[in-house]
Amino acid sequence: MTFFLESNIYQFFGRFHAMLVHLPIGFIILAVVFELLALKKKIDLNRAISYAFLAGALSGFISIILGLMLASDGGYNEATLNTHKWTGITMTLTAFLLFFIKRKQNTILWAKKSYPLLMVLVVTLLFVAGHNGGNLTHGSDYLLEHAPNPIRTLVGMKPIRDRVTDLDEALVYEDVIHPIFEAKCNVCHNSDKAKGDLLLTDPESIMKGGENGEVIATGNAKESELYRRVTLSPTHKEFMPTEGRTPLTKEETMLIQWWIDEGAPFDKKVVALNLTDRTKAHLRDVGIGLKQTFIESLDLEVVDDNIIEAIEAEGFKIKPITGNSTLLEVAYSPYNKSPITAEKLEVLLKAKTNIVWLNFSDIRLQEALIPKLGQLENLVELRINNTNLTDEGVKALASLKHLEYLNVYGNPITDASVESFQKLTSLQKIYLWKTGVSETGVQELKNALNHVNVVLGL
Ligand code: HEC
Repeated sequence: MTFFLESNIYQFFGRFHAMLVHLPIGFIILAVVFELLALKKKIDLNRAISYAFLAGALSGFISIILGLMLASDGGYNEATLNTHKWTGITMTLTAFLLFFIKRKQNTILWAKKSYPLLMVLVVTLLFVAGHNGGNLTHGSDYLLEHAPNPIRTLVGMKPIRDRVTDLDEALVYEDVIHPIFEAKCNVCHNSDKAKGDLLLTDPESIMKGGENGEVIATGNAKESELYRRVTLSPTHKEFMPTEGRTPLTKEETMLIQWWIDEGAPFDKKVVALNLTDRTKAHLRDVGIGLKQTFIESLDLEVVDDNIIEAIEAEGFKIKPITGNSTLLEVAYSPYNKSPITAEKLEVLLKAKTNIVWLNFSDIRLQEALIPKLGQLENLVELRINNTNLTDEGVKALASLKHLEYLNVYGNPITDASVESFQKLTSLQKIYLWKTGVSETGVQELKNALNHVNVVLGL
C-alpha cells in the first residue's frame, strides 16, 4: 500500500493516456473508411464496421478514465481541458451509439436517418478532442508553430522573428533567454499547461510567477526561485525540468543567472548589460556572437620560415598578429635609412596572402610602388599616413576589398580620391585628417559607405 502512495499511482496510469488515445482515433477512422468503402463498392461490411465502432468506444472509455487521472495533477488550462474532456466523452458515447445502431440497423428505423449525421458528429468530435488534447500536451501554438508568417498573422499569432545571432544586435530576452525557456521549460509552463501555475512564455507571466509567488528576484539570481529550481541536484524532487526532460546546460544556467543578476531586463540588447569574456563565451555556446570577422574566417597555411627570414633581411618587421596565428602583421620603421625598393617589396609579397595588417606610416614611398600593395588581397588594416600618397596612388588601393581600417592622414590627396575610397566596401574607419579632402567629399563618402567612420582630427 505504501508503495502505491509513494509512487503516485494516478500519475503512473495517467501518463498512459497520451499513448492510448490514439486507439479510438484509429478505430473510428477505420469504421468511417469501411463505411465509405461499403457504400462505393456495394459490399457488406456491417459487421466489421460495428466492431470497429465498439473497439473505438471501448478504448475511448479507457482513455477517459486515464485522462481523468492525468488531469487530477492540475496545471492545465481549464477551458481547454473542459473542451477536451467533454468532446472526448461525447465522442465515446456516440461511438457506442453507432455500434448499437449498426448492429440493429434493420430493426431500429429512426436510426437509419440519424446514422449519417451521427457519423459526421463522431468525426467532428474526434478532431476537436484531438486538437485540444494536442494543445494540452504541447501548447496552443503547437499546430501552427512552424507555419509561415502570413498564416500566423491570419490567425492572430505573432510573426516569427528571425533569431538574431550577432552579438551587437541580439536582444537579451528575445534572443537568449526566451529560446532557452521555449526549448527546456515551456512544454509544461505554457498557457494550456501551466504546471505550478507558472507560465514562462512572456515577460508579464514570468514576472508574475507561479502558485508560490514570484520566481524572479530582480537583480539577485541566488534569491530567485527559478534559479534555485534549475541549480538543485537533478535527483531533487523540486529540480526543473522534471520528469527527466533535458536539463539546462551549464552555459544556459549561467546565462539565466547573468540575466537575473543584471536586473532581468526584457527589452535590452545583450551589449547593454555587463559582458565579461566568460559571459561572451557562454553566449557563443547558445549561438550568439557567431558572426565571424573577416580575419576569423581566414584559414591559411603558415608561411615558410625561410620566407619570413628573407623578409626580415630586407628590413621589414614581420610577426603573427597574435600568439601562433598564421596571419601576419608587417611594419617598416621610418628610421630605417634604406628606402623601400621594388626588390624589397617583391620579397615581402611572397607572404602576401597572410599579411592582414600593414604599417607604412611616416616613410617616403615611391609612387610607382604603390600599385604593388594592391596585391595584398587579405589586407584588413593599412596605415599609410604621411607618405606622400597621391590621388593616383589611392586609385591603386581600390582593389583591397577587405580593408576595414585605412589611415591616409597627412597625405596630399583630394576629393578625387573619394571615388576610389568608395570602392573599399568593407571600410569601417578612415583617417582623413590633414588631407585635401573637403567636407563635401567626406559627406559623399559617408553617403556611399553606410557605416564608415571618418576621422578628421585627433
Ligand atoms: C515536464 C514538465 C516540466 C518542465 C519541462 C519544467 N517544469 Fe517547472 N514545474 C513543473 C511542475 C509539475 C511544477 C509544479 C510542482 C513543483 O512546484 O515542483 C513546476 C514548478 C515550477 C516552478 C515553481 C513555481 C511555483 O510558484 O511554485 C518553477 C520556478 C519552475 N517550475 C521552473 C521551471 C523552469 C525554469 C523550467 C525549465 C528549465 C521548468 N520549470 C521546466 C513541471 C515542469
